[in-house]
Amino acid sequence: MKTKVTVVGAGNVGATVAQGIALKELADVVLVDIVEGVPQGKSLDMNETAPVEKYDALLRGTNGYDGTENSDIVVITAGLPRKPGMSRDDLLWKNEEIVAGVTREVAKRSPKAILVVVSNPLDAMCEVARRVSGFPRERVIGMAGVLDSARMRCFIAMELNVSVENTHAFVLGGHGDTMVPLPRYSTVAGIPITELISKERIDAIVDRTRTGGAEIVNLLKTSAWYAPGAAAVEMVETILKDKRKILPCAAYLTGEYGINDLYVGVPVKLGSKGIEQIVQIKLTGDEQAALNKSAGAVKELFERLKTGAGATV
Ligand code: NAI
Ligand code: 2OP
Repeated sequence: MKTKVTVVGAGNVGATVAQGIALKELADVVLVDIVEGVPQGKSLDMNETAPVEKYDALLRGTNGYDGTENSDIVVITAGLPRKPGMSRDDLLWKNEEIVAGVTREVAKRSPKAILVVVSNPLDAMCEVARRVSGFPRERVIGMAGVLDSARMRCFIAMELNVSVENTHAFVLGGHGDTMVPLPRYSTVAGIPITELISKERIDAIVDRTRTGGAEIVNLLKTSAWYAPGAAAVEMVETILKDKRKILPCAAYLTGEYGINDLYVGVPVKLGSKGIEQIVQIKLTGDEQAALNKSAGAVKELFERLKTGAGATV
């Protein structure tokens, strides 16, 4: 049986994820959206791209969930994107309703799937998907850290005029303004950036990373999709190929980093079972305090969620 990935939400991010999966021939893709014609049209367009790009993945667009059965992975991008002046938190209740509905549909058809959540506010939407699906935490994972650290890597490479391939960065915490970029663990060719870039410039890179999403929203009047799409595809590829890459992802913590019952971005080992290990790195007092503050912001969001365990919204 061919590997199957369902992508829910055929908007900017969802279509980019679907295209990335096809280009890498990772799986056949079922693209789901509520807008009639859009998932069908985008899927057909991408199928017609295949002879030129030389991929044999098949895409199918639909406005329902028939055909999504037994997906290996479901990527949830359905929801509203952020508009100028709108915080990720403003999206909370509308997207909670959407993500809860989507999760209910996919979880009953694909009870063994791994859910990769993208919809914002990210950490809260992961919790909605976890509560509604009833899946174990290993199989409900949020995409944010891969994107945030890609942004940081991009800024480091631009600062030093080096290949992005030489860069590595870790961004922990919630996917919001309190996220925690970690310069000590960010390197170029294995050398910590603290030895290569002045403190003043590192502070500027950290700030730009934290506000990276808003920077794009201000330019585009909607949120980014190329880098978010690529980041989600990296997670899908890592899982499907059982690569066991260590990537920063939103994971439900039960005591790790001193944080309980919250989704927070931390380094995880990703493999075919989803989260195979939560990797605990040593933090300084300041770094841990910043992570605690970020977890506090996620907790506030969780407290505003309407989805109780097992309840419907
Ligand atoms: P978009 O507006 O282009 O696409 C969203 C799609 O979801 C639309 O096509 C819409 O029709 C569909 N949709 C709405 N309700 C639905 C439902 N009940 N079932 C199926 N489909 C439904 O938005 P975009 O730019 O693709 O962003 C999607 C989400 O991802 C937003 O919440 C955005 O904030 C979030 N995002 C998260 C990032 C992250 O780092 N975690 C990065 C970028 C975006
Ligand atoms: C981003 O970081 C809006 O979460 C989205 O681009």
